[in-house]
Amino acid sequence: TLLDVVVNNDLNIEGYGACEGTLTCSTCHVILKQDVYDSLPEQPSDEERDMLDLAYGLTDTSRLGCQIT
Ligand code: FES
Repeated sequence: TLLDVVVNNDLNIEGYGACEGTLTCSTCHVILKQDVYDSLPEQPSDEERDMLDLAYGLTDTSRLGCQIT
């Protein structure tokens, strides 16, 4: 996942991925360019959408990094 990329490369993004991908935080919120969003193979699940609703600055191309594979 995108979260794994951040963790495995020691990218120091304060608080990113606080729940370690268990869909209970939304700190891994990312806003994608439309073409990138459209190119992802899967749309957000209902569980991801529910958590995205709690994310600050939600947009039409928001995703949770821990759900992007
Ligand atoms: Fe918590 Fe993605 S890391 S929802």
